[in-house]
Amino acid sequence: MLDLFAGCGGLTRGFVDQGSFQSVGAVELDRAAAATYAANFDPTGRHTYAGDIAGYTEVPPVDLVIGGPPCQGFSALGKRDPADVRNQLWREFVRIVRESRARMFVFENVDRFAKTPEFQLLRAAAGEGGELADFQTQVFRLNAADFGAPQKRIRTIIVGSRIGPVAEPLPTHAKVPGEARARWVSLREAFLEGPVVLEPAVREEWLPESSIDFQGDAVPGAFKLRDLHITRNHDLTSLIRYAHIQPGQSRFQLPEELQYACWRRHTKGAGDVLGRLQWDQPAVTIRTEFFKPEKGRFLHPQWENGGEQINRALTHAEAAVVQGFDERHLWCGTKAEIARQIGNAVPPPLARAVAFSVAGRLKGAR
Ligand SMILES: C[S@@+](CC[C@H](N)C(=O)[O-])C[C@H]1O[C@@H](n2cnc3c(N)ncnc32)[C@H](O)[C@@H]1O
Repeated sequence: MLDLFAGCGGLTRGFVDQGSFQSVGAVELDRAAAATYAANFDPTGRHTYAGDIAGYTEVPPVDLVIGGPPCQGFSALGKRDPADVRNQLWREFVRIVRESRARMFVFENVDRFAKTPEFQLLRAAAGEGGELADFQTQVFRLNAADFGAPQKRIRTIIVGSRIGPVAEPLPTHAKVPGEARARWVSLREAFLEGPVVLEPAVREEWLPESSIDFQGDAVPGAFKLRDLHITRNHDLTSLIRYAHIQPGQSRFQLPEELQYACWRRHTKGAGDVLGRLQWDQPAVTIRTEFFKPEKGRFLHPQWENGGEQINRALTHAEAAVVQGFDERHLWCGTKAEIARQIGNAVPPPLARAVAFSVAGRLKGAR
């Protein structure tokens, strides 16, 4: 398979873990993200194209193209500018699907993508007379929590196929557990009882000093998950604010004197700002600035009378675990670059579920 807009390879991780797929190419503009991808899936570094997708012309023949173009153009959070050049990137996706002669493709994006004109255009490309007219498409709206990630994150997945439809990915977890489905994985289970135990206490502020060569450049890394269990030095006023916020609460519960003047004017919206997560639930959707509590519900869930209060945002390691990464994944780049890679990724458990459906069809077609 070929991964376009590959980021750190969350989508690839799920497909590789499923067991039927091998990555023979990836395209990624950001060098640090491309280095992370290569460190995990391309040991020679030769299959990872670190550059603008428009310049990717030597397309290998593959069975499957996967990819998720940047969502800023469509996301509810960004300003939705229809002229945003990033919205045109799906056209490059279509070009490469054609040139690779893939039998199937998987296109991932934010929930909101299904309501955009680009979504209609992509589906039209797979309709009569379109560039991908020999593909049938199916659209799935999937929540990562339903596939065992400790995070509520809804994504639109479009599967295109020239060899018949795939089975709908089968949830393994649910908010209300049933016979065939376990309860959503909580943060407590993920951080304290999972395969990677992340003690809440952290001291370090910086990544270790180390770098690797990626296509002739030195890039910080490759870091292990535990190297990413680092915090920031929040200032005193911020710490006082965080200390007031109990699990499930947010900036609205701060006493008057601790509110920022600009917040007072906004009594609605941005309700997750300075929010604290809850031990017994999955996290909310992690974004690229999860290390700033001022940007969303990213405060560590530990807040108990008498117990030790943890007044900080999630560490990079915790955010990676929330996304469903484990200790096998290596990371390259600066702290901010790695945060972006983590926040942008497709949760591997969700990707793995899609991979099962796609593999079922490809195998049947052999
Ligand atoms: C949503 S992220 C992809 C995440 C990835 N699928 C994963 O699971 O980890 C989109 C990626 O597209 C990359 N990108 C943006 N513009 C690009 C371009 N013109 N060519 C190639 N990659 C680009 C960004 O750097 C970003 O890493």
